[in-house]
Amino acid sequence: MASEGTHASSALDRLSPFLDDGRIADGVIGRPRLVNGYVDVLPDSPEDDSKSLAQRTMEFPLLAPIYEHIWRPAGVLAFMGFNLQHFREEREKTVQALHLSGDQTVLDIACGPGNFTATFADALSPGGLAIGLDISRPMLRKAVETNSHPNAVYLRGDATSLPFPDAALDAVTCYAALYLIPDPFTVLDEMMRVLKPGGRISVMASRASEYPAIRRAQRRVLGLTGLRMFDINAFTDYFRSSGLTEITQEIYGVVQYVHGMKPTG
Ligand SMILES: C[S@@+](CC[C@H](N)C(=O)[O-])C[C@H]1O[C@@H](n2cnc3c(N)ncnc32)[C@H](O)[C@@H]1O
Repeated sequence: MASEGTHASSALDRLSPFLDDGRIADGVIGRPRLVNGYVDVLPDSPEDDSKSLAQRTMEFPLLAPIYEHIWRPAGVLAFMGFNLQHFREEREKTVQALHLSGDQTVLDIACGPGNFTATFADALSPGGLAIGLDISRPMLRKAVETNSHPNAVYLRGDATSLPFPDAALDAVTCYAALYLIPDPFTVLDEMMRVLKPGGRISVMASRASEYPAIRRAQRRVLGLTGLRMFDINAFTDYFRSSGLTEITQEIYGVVQYVHGMKPTG
């Protein structure tokens, strides 16, 4: 197995063939450069005022070190009704939903500290690649530090403008992030765009209550922080209208998982 330093230095080489040269030439995304072991394609611009409070919280440097082993388990267990079995199986179930194997390329959007990216990398052969993309520098530094893997690279980019050409990737996922990004359906459009025909997609997000009064209260309170509660049909409807097939949904407490496949024809 290669050392962590070797992974970092080859990250640019591994990732470059997948990046969209046209978008780089047009300045839509920045020139890829290696920073602290991850590849960065975002400009060094000042703070973006359009970010929600929930999004800014994710960039708080003290969150990244506790995210994988404290923050996420506590949040997931509480929001999923303390379903321990599902919590333990969540990563493997995602690998299965994405049909990951061999030398496929999978994009883990909003990867945080790489807690899923490393599991995806494990499911692939040495010719495969798991790309963990996030906008937060502290999260990506933590990903490089704790979830480095020979089959994984980490990339600083924006989920609403992915740095890949159309139909470039075998599988795409976005977990625990669509509810804090102000324009989640732009992210979904981008996921559809970069997915190859026959490729698999999986999202995990919030689910609003079926009771109108509770739903209104959830939206009013959480809306103040920038967190969004999605209707139970929000993603199944979106997937269906985008022409996806093999759509399945799982509900645990106030969390929903939706999976699907982009048709080949
Ligand atoms: C709660 S974490 C999810 C981490 C991981 N996917 C999981 O399921 O545990 C949400 C992540 O979304 C990232 N994020 C928020 N807005 C983003 C954007 N526009 N593009 C890329 N990542 C974004 C945050 O930086 C944060 O790391």
